[in-house]
Amino acid sequence: MCGIVGYIGDKIATPMLIEGLKRLEYRGYDSAGVAIMNGNGVETRRAAGKIARLESAIASNPPHGTLGIAHTRWATHGPPNEQNAHPHVSQNGKIAVVHNGIIENATSLKAGLEARGYVFKSDTDTEVLSHLIETAYAGNLEAAVIEALRQVDGTYGIAVISSDEKDKIVAARKGSPLLVGIGDGEYFVASDASAILAHTRQVVYLDDGDIAVVTRDGYHVLDLDSVIREKPVTRIDWDLAQIERGGYPHFMLKEIFEQPTTVENTMRGRLILEEGFSKLGGLNISKEDLLAVDNIIITACGTSWHSALIGEMMIEELCRIPVEVEYASEFRYRNPIVTPRTLCIVISQSGETADTLAAMREAKRRGARTLGLVNQVGSTIAREDDGGIYLHAGPEIGVASTKAFTSQVVALALFTLKLARLRDLSVARGRAIAQAMAKLPEQIQSILDRAEEIEQLAEEFKRATNFLYLGRGYNFPAALEGALKLKEISYIHAEGYPAAEMKHGPIALIDEMMPVVCIAPHDAVFDKITSNIQEVKARKGKVIAITTRDEPSLAGKIDYEFRIPETEDLLTPILASVPLQLLAYYIAVKRGCNVDQPRNLAKSVTVE
Ligand code: F6R
Repeated sequence: MCGIVGYIGDKIATPMLIEGLKRLEYRGYDSAGVAIMNGNGVETRRAAGKIARLESAIASNPPHGTLGIAHTRWATHGPPNEQNAHPHVSQNGKIAVVHNGIIENATSLKAGLEARGYVFKSDTDTEVLSHLIETAYAGNLEAAVIEALRQVDGTYGIAVISSDEKDKIVAARKGSPLLVGIGDGEYFVASDASAILAHTRQVVYLDDGDIAVVTRDGYHVLDLDSVIREKPVTRIDWDLAQIERGGYPHFMLKEIFEQPTTVENTMRGRLILEEGFSKLGGLNISKEDLLAVDNIIITACGTSWHSALIGEMMIEELCRIPVEVEYASEFRYRNPIVTPRTLCIVISQSGETADTLAAMREAKRRGARTLGLVNQVGSTIAREDDGGIYLHAGPEIGVASTKAFTSQVVALALFTLKLARLRDLSVARGRAIAQAMAKLPEQIQSILDRAEEIEQLAEEFKRATNFLYLGRGYNFPAALEGALKLKEISYIHAEGYPAAEMKHGPIALIDEMMPVVCIAPHDAVFDKITSNIQEVKARKGKVIAITTRDEPSLAGKIDYEFRIPETEDLLTPILASVPLQLLAYYIAVKRGCNVDQPRNLAKSVTVE
C-alpha cells in the first residue's frame, strides 16, 4: 500500500526522502510528495505518477531543509492526481500530514470542518486529519495529534510536521505499520524498514495506539493518554543487497531465481532427516497442547491463501486433523466455530495484510491459539501471534509473490511433519518426506537452469487473451497460483480450476485459441488428470503440460511439455509453481508490462 518516510537530522532531507520513497515504491505507486521544513515553514511538493516524476519535478529547485516527511500513494479516496497526493496541508498552511490507512468517518468529520469554514482541496480522507490537527493545535503538536485522533474511526499510520515546531516529527499508528529508525545523530520514521536500511538497522516498531515524538535530540513514545511507553529497539538482520536487484532486470526474476536458497533457508536447522521430524523453535506451544488441538483453521489472502490450501491437504492427509481454509476477509466477518482447542494458522508474507491481521485478532478473541507463518520479521502479525514460523525468505520486493509462496509451502510441510510424527506417522514415512524436502533446493535449481525453455513457450503464448490452469489434488492450488501470477502481471485473463471441475462450466471456453496449462506430475491422481487433458484436447485446446516423466498415456494429447523432477506428492506444488512463475514473468515482460509494479496492485494490502 502507501509508503511513509520521514527524516530529521543534519543532512539535506529531500534526497534522503526521495531515496526512501524509491525503496518503498513497490508498495504503492500512483503519486508521491514531500513536505520539508525550509526555514520559513512547511514547503510541499507533489506529483502524480512514479517517484521519478516527483524527482524531476523538484530537481531544478528542490525544497531545502533538514527535516521532512514524504509519501508514496496507492489511491483509496479519489483518483491518483497531484491534488490527492500526500502530504496534505492544513488550512493555515502550517501543518503537513502523510497518512496510510483509511479514515472511516471522514465524511462526517469533513461536514463538521466545512461547517467551521474549512475548504477541502482534495478528495482524500487524509485532508480531514490535517485540518483536525490544526483545530486542536494549542502549542504542542503531539497533543494536537492525540486530540485529532480521538475523533477518528479507522486505520492510520501518520507522520505530521508543523511550522510552529520546526524540529519535531510526530508519528502515530493504528492498524498501519510504522517504525522509528535510530541513526547516528539522525532519526527516521518509516512504514517499512527497507526505506531507511541504507542509514540504520536500529528500529523501534510502533504498536497500535503509539504516538512517537521524534526530535533532533531523540525520541519518545506515548499512548493516547500521553503516558510514556517503553519500546524495545530491534536490529534488522537483512541488508541492503537483499533489497536491490543484483544484476537481474526485475525483482521478480531475482526472487524466482533465489528460491533454491530461500527454500533452503526456510528449512535450515529445522529438518531432522534421521528422525523424519522437524524442530520449530518459535511455535511456543507445548507438545501436550499441540496434541490437544482438535481442529485447525488456516486463514490468509491471495497467494498465501493458495499455500493454505496446500497446507490443508498436507495436514489432513498426514496428521488426520480437520482443517478449514478461510479467506481472511470472510473469516473476520462471519460467525466461525472456534474453540480453545482450535489452532488458527495465519499465513502472510508481509505480516501486515489488514484482513489477515484482523482475522487473527478475531480468532484470538474467540479463544483460539494462533500461529503465524510470516516472512517479514517484526511485522504486526509476527508480534501479535502466539507463536510462529518465520519463512526466512528475505525481503520480497516484486509485487507478485514468488519465493514467499514456496517458502510458505515448505513451512507448512515442516509443521505437518512435526505434528504428524507427534501423532502417528511412522518414522519411515517421515524420513521419506524429510529426505524429499532436503532435495528441493537442488531440484528447483534444475528447473531454473532450463528457464530458457519457458521463455520460448512464453513467446508462443504472449498474445493469448485467456488462459486456463488445471490441476488436481495438491496441484489444484498450484493451478490457482499459476493463474493468479499470470493475470496480475500480464493482465491476461486466467482462471485456475480443479481439472475435473472444468466439465461443469469452463469447458465451454475451450477452443483452438485457449491455452490450457495442465499440472500433471506422476502422483496419486495422474490417471485422473490424463482424462481431463483428453477432454481439453478433444475440444482443440492447446495443452501445456507440466509433467514428471515420459508418460505414454499422454502421447498425442499435449502440445507443449515441461518436465519437473519427481518428489513426494505433497511437495509437487513447490516444483510445479516454479515454471508457472517463469511463464507468467516472461509473458508479462514480452507484453511490455511492468512486472515488479503491476497496475492497481500494492505489495502489502494494509486496508480492508
Ligand atoms: C499475489 C500476491 C498477493 C498476496 C496477498 C497477501 O502475488 O502477492 O495475493 O499474496 O496480498 O499478502 P500477504 O502474504 O503479505 O499477507
